[in-house]
Amino acid sequence: MSLISYLMSQVASLVPRHSKPVTHIAPLSSSRYSPLMPIYDALKASDPDMYSALMGEMKRQTDGVELIPSENYVSPAVLEMMGSVFNNKYSEGYPGKRYYGGQEYTDIVEALAIERAKKLFKAGHANVQPHAGAPANVAAYFALLEPGDTVMGMDLSHGGHLTHGHPVTYITKIFKFVRYKMKDINTGELDYDEMREVAKKENPKLILVGYSAYPREVDYEKVKAIADEVGALTMADMAHVAGLIAGGAHKNPFDFGFDIITTTTHKTLRGPRGGMILTREEELGKKMDKSVFPGFQGGPIMQMVAAKGVAFGEALRPEFKDYAAQIVKNAKRFADIFLAKGCRLITGGTSNHLVLLDAQTSWGISGGECEHLFDRIGITLNKNMIADDPRKPMDPSGIRFGTPAITTRGMKEADMDTLADFMLRAIEKRADDSAIAKLHEEVIAFCRKFPVPGIKA
Ligand SMILES: Cc1ncc(COP(=O)(O)O)c(C=O)c1O
Repeated sequence: MSLISYLMSQVASLVPRHSKPVTHIAPLSSSRYSPLMPIYDALKASDPDMYSALMGEMKRQTDGVELIPSENYVSPAVLEMMGSVFNNKYSEGYPGKRYYGGQEYTDIVEALAIERAKKLFKAGHANVQPHAGAPANVAAYFALLEPGDTVMGMDLSHGGHLTHGHPVTYITKIFKFVRYKMKDINTGELDYDEMREVAKKENPKLILVGYSAYPREVDYEKVKAIADEVGALTMADMAHVAGLIAGGAHKNPFDFGFDIITTTTHKTLRGPRGGMILTREEELGKKMDKSVFPGFQGGPIMQMVAAKGVAFGEALRPEFKDYAAQIVKNAKRFADIFLAKGCRLITGGTSNHLVLLDAQTSWGISGGECEHLFDRIGITLNKNMIADDPRKPMDPSGIRFGTPAITTRGMKEADMDTLADFMLRAIEKRADDSAIAKLHEEVIAFCRKFPVPGIKA
């Protein structure tokens, strides 16, 4: 057994029940897929197993439809910076204040990334060093709170993220999390009355908005008014919608007086994997800097910091506004089609980049079964809990799907009609293996019309 087959068999035994087990990676070294730049020759020569897996991933990304709303395709320029020699440099500290020598170029890229982030989000201060979205949130909490302090965030089953106080996270051992919910699951309106009541009773030091599976926009003005009543700070975790805000398709929480924004950089913002903390006021930003380093992290991952700067430069261009607007148009088209077909959508539609569909009620199959079925036709999305879900997280009632990645590939509203048609036919023919296999061929042929940035197919 080759090393790669052995590793894949080990991985296959770990995948959850409804995921498609990976049993085989075909050798793809001579496939039609190649990076745009001939830069993988060294990898191919040095490590054929890893090279083969990389070629397989290129094929998967090219021949499949990516509907996971937290994923995207970065530009070749971002990819190049991510794979650059900035990886080799330790640069603990901040531009102009480092613990090691040799920082003339790391200072340039980090300063550029900071300047561009501030401009993009109208921020007073930006810290671009958090390794990902979760560490950005944790670092922000520690900058603002003392152990035992209270944070108010959205009920997790209504769309909040694990880092907003899920009991499985360590952060709940240190801070107390209290909850608000949606008032009406069918419209998505948040329960601002409950928010005010809970805030008055619990006296949170921080009020948190921004979610992982919520298809609507927040009324930042109302949240800020409640926070002012109880003297709380306001933080928006805009990990999912950062690109929509940057591109002007969504409101910016800073325009309503929010104090802090945390975000990932790799979802709608279409940058490298990473996190970022922004503050409206410069003074609060200094606290964030201390909290990220030395409070929480070690050296920044400088090739990612530099690549964030490249992505922010792209997001500042006028074309990014069209991109952000198209993401929302595409998601709305998806929602309209599924609603017209009698499906139940949580919040009754979408105002952002994602749709949350109750598969159990709509089609009589669980979210997990649905995810697996769509995998078989080359459409990737994820099973997801719906608000007050009676089912378990590993096989919940819902599916979550979205449009950031397919919009990057150039798909427009009419293409949503085609994709929804593939999905609905898969549901209808789910017991017919040959119909499903034929449908998969159709999906591949459709995908090949839309190039993936960074891959020459
Ligand atoms: C709202 C929200 N915050 C934080 C995160 C965490 O980001 P990361 O996976 O980069 O740690 C996510 C990731 O999905 C998210 O949706």
